[in-house]
Amino acid sequence: MTLLDFFEDEALGLRLQFDHHALILTHDEWGVGRGRFSYKTLSALSVALRLFPQTENTQPMSLIPETLSTTTNLAEQGDLPASLDNLRAGLRRARAAAPSPDAWRADVDRHVRPHPILGVSHESPFVHRCFTKPRGYAGDAVMLDFIYRHPVNRSLAEHTTPRGRMLMQAGLTTPAPRAVRNRCRLLADELDALCVRKPNAEILSLACGHLREAEHSSALAEQRFGRFVALDQDPESIASVQRDYGALGIEAQPGSVKTLLARGLRDFGQFDFIYAAGLYD
Ligand SMILES: C[S@@+](CC[C@H](N)C(=O)[O-])C[C@H]1O[C@@H](n2cnc3c(N)ncnc32)[C@H](O)[C@@H]1O
Repeated sequence: MTLLDFFEDEALGLRLQFDHHALILTHDEWGVGRGRFSYKTLSALSVALRLFPQTENTQPMSLIPETLSTTTNLAEQGDLPASLDNLRAGLRRARAAAPSPDAWRADVDRHVRPHPILGVSHESPFVHRCFTKPRGYAGDAVMLDFIYRHPVNRSLAEHTTPRGRMLMQAGLTTPAPRAVRNRCRLLADELDALCVRKPNAEILSLACGHLREAEHSSALAEQRFGRFVALDQDPESIASVQRDYGALGIEAQPGSVKTLLARGLRDFGQFDFIYAAGLYD
């Protein structure tokens, strides 16, 4: 038994039992019915039922255990993309149904942290880095390089299991990483358009990370700009920009947005275009 095992509403005389891919419905007057459904349908149904507590007196039960159990089943069957989809959708529903942020955190501590699926998901070096935050903050530029599928992370990706590599690839095709990759190319297009409109344009990239849009911009590759300052609080990212793109004339500078807001642009100069990607989202 994998999903919500049993649902009963005495007032309606209704019982639902989930048995592998089958749903068995028993009603006091209608009798018994049985149907076969996909795991996804049964999972969605079981979660939906939990969204509506059976009686006003019963405490709503956490939606997380069913999600984790279905996720584990799908992963064991080798369907990692469906497993991830189920995990994301189930946790999103569970979070929306949680009565308060504290209740959500308590639910996660109780159900997710001790669950074996957490260890499985950490076989993906991308997920592991998002979770452990080795530089002390979320969304560092190395994590972004996983999303960009940048070759610089190849050795990090090699030190894992085949399942970890598949999980990583499945995770990187989900909507958020796709949006980040698209954003990088849109930025490069914007830089190219600007440098056509305004020769010698002066540009400031705030929270530049590893400045990977530089690899998609012909204006940067051909040095068709007046000045390009790349600013980030993380000295390791600044060193990486200097190493990778310093030869293009890009000035990599350590600094925080807070200081910039406090002191204005006086330390940096005037710019035609200032942008920040991945700082406020
Ligand atoms: C998600 S990464 C985005 C990097 C890059 N812009 C991109 O789109 O790939 C966020 C970056 O913001 C930087 N950052 C975070 N807070 C900052 C702050 N207060 N001042 C400057 N940089 C900051 C981090 O060091 C990190 O490199």
